[in-house]
Amino acid sequence: MALVAPSILAADFTMLRDQIQTADKGGADWIHVDVMDGHFVPNITFGPLLVSAVNRMTDRFLDVHLMIDNPDFFIEDFVKAGADSLTVHYEAVVHLNRTVNRIKELGVKVGVAINPSTPTDILKEIVNDVDLILVMSVNAGFGGQKFIESSYRRISEVKSMIPKGKDVRIEVDGGVTSENAGKLVSSGADVLVAGTSVFKSANIPAAIKELKTA
Ligand code: DX5
Ligand code: ZN
Repeated sequence: MALVAPSILAADFTMLRDQIQTADKGGADWIHVDVMDGHFVPNITFGPLLVSAVNRMTDRFLDVHLMIDNPDFFIEDFVKAGADSLTVHYEAVVHLNRTVNRIKELGVKVGVAINPSTPTDILKEIVNDVDLILVMSVNAGFGGQKFIESSYRRISEVKSMIPKGKDVRIEVDGGVTSENAGKLVSSGADVLVAGTSVFKSANIPAAIKELKTA
């Protein structure tokens, strides 16, 4: 069964605590926090202060997705804020090996994300050093976008790169619904990030369950 990581980007911020706790009690495995800087992606969202607040609202694993340029400048702040995992974008980092090692040294899990137009091949040099590969199934920047169909193939390509017995999870993010979840899991996804399909649904626990069992 896949892990489900609701993305709070789609939550109602006027009642964020309530929404997170509903997801938490409704079976969310992780809570996904989308950090955007207005440079790497054309949108601005949250910083370490919000991560710290979310950390006080739930005991769930905080999966922090950094869609920012120069993530090295902020890694320590997000770890201090309570992130359990930091995922950086391949496209935003020049010295990826250094950044990955720095995150590990700080004692949290580390992920590398790739945008839909980045060839999966580039992951060969990094896949053995990370805990997670995040395959973007929309162009990073906004919730509520249409799922890109080539993502199934891309997930399978990443899956075939991970050596047997090596604990590297594949996460998929963007346009994930109960309709595509089953095929995503059979393609190799271990963690389903879902914003709209969870927080915009009438029944958050039911939406999480549908994704888990898809
Ligand atoms: C997009 C973010 C996603 C976003 C997904 O750049 O990384 O995590 O919240 O939202 P949905 O599930 O609505 O596509
Ligand atoms: Zn995300």
